[in-house]
Amino acid sequence: DAEKSSFRAHIKQLLKQKDAVLVAHYYTDPEIQALAEETGGCVADSLEMARFGKEHQAKTLIVAGVKFMGETAKILSPEKTVLMPTLDATCSLDVGCPVNDFSAFCDAHPEHTVVVYANTSAAVKARADWVVTSSIALEVVEHLDSLGKKIIWGPDRHLGSYIQKQTGADMLLWQGECVVHDEFKAKALRELKIQYPDAAILVHPESPASVVELADAVGSTSQLIKASQSLPNSTFIVATDKGIFYKMQQAVPGKLLIEAPTGGQGATCRSCAHCPWMAMNGLKAIANALENIQPAQHQIYVDETLREKALIPLTRMLEFAT
Ligand code: 13P
Repeated sequence: DAEKSSFRAHIKQLLKQKDAVLVAHYYTDPEIQALAEETGGCVADSLEMARFGKEHQAKTLIVAGVKFMGETAKILSPEKTVLMPTLDATCSLDVGCPVNDFSAFCDAHPEHTVVVYANTSAAVKARADWVVTSSIALEVVEHLDSLGKKIIWGPDRHLGSYIQKQTGADMLLWQGECVVHDEFKAKALRELKIQYPDAAILVHPESPASVVELADAVGSTSQLIKASQSLPNSTFIVATDKGIFYKMQQAVPGKLLIEAPTGGQGATCRSCAHCPWMAMNGLKAIANALENIQPAQHQIYVDETLREKALIPLTRMLEFAT
């Protein structure tokens, strides 16, 4: 509508004026992803967002996603201004892994290598030996296991137990979860599959084991999009945040994409397959963050001592991934 197109035009102008680039996650709303694409920014998974932000020459990054993504960008590019539509866009995995408790857990098992998911605070990253995203978690743990390392894994227990099963590695798991993926239900998914017997099931490994077991492909957001292209099926049931449907449908325009069932509807489920914090990244919020930067609301700041420590495991991840 008219209001949205005026916001879009205004944001385009502001991006140029401020030498800024929009870096968006697949879980943001379609209009945000479309704008990032149109303006030379990126739409990506957490690993690619980190890489894109680090390598892009713009002075300012505006990160449409959740707070840990902005923090990762700042840790990798301290010379850039990193803005977010709102710093209130958090992540249940990050919130469920407070640094003091996690540190005490690590201290109690000093012989373990600490591997943390990117969905954590800068302080938790600073306590880790490795940071991973879901697209390379399996390979990193395989590598550590081949060296005979015992692993502390945090915070996502579902992703951790999936990796443990796949690799057989010795892993102690922090008991965190994503409010979106934790909602997917195996029983309802099996029933849906009866209605669509030819559909392939695509599952993000932050989902419960009972859901992962039903999958034809398990992977990060970018890996699931690739799976929709490489599998021959013409129908897919997708267990991840519904934000992904925008890019997945572009990748497979002729195929039918169906949301995997969650625990309830409306007020009865916690997320209904869309992250409430990702949903805070609206056009108005982006325009406002670029135009009226309020540091406490929009600008990522990471303490320098913490940043230097967190940079070590993050750099390890990026170097391992190349
Ligand atoms: P990926 O995009 O790396 O699959 O991560 C999903 C996620 O948890 C974002 O919050």
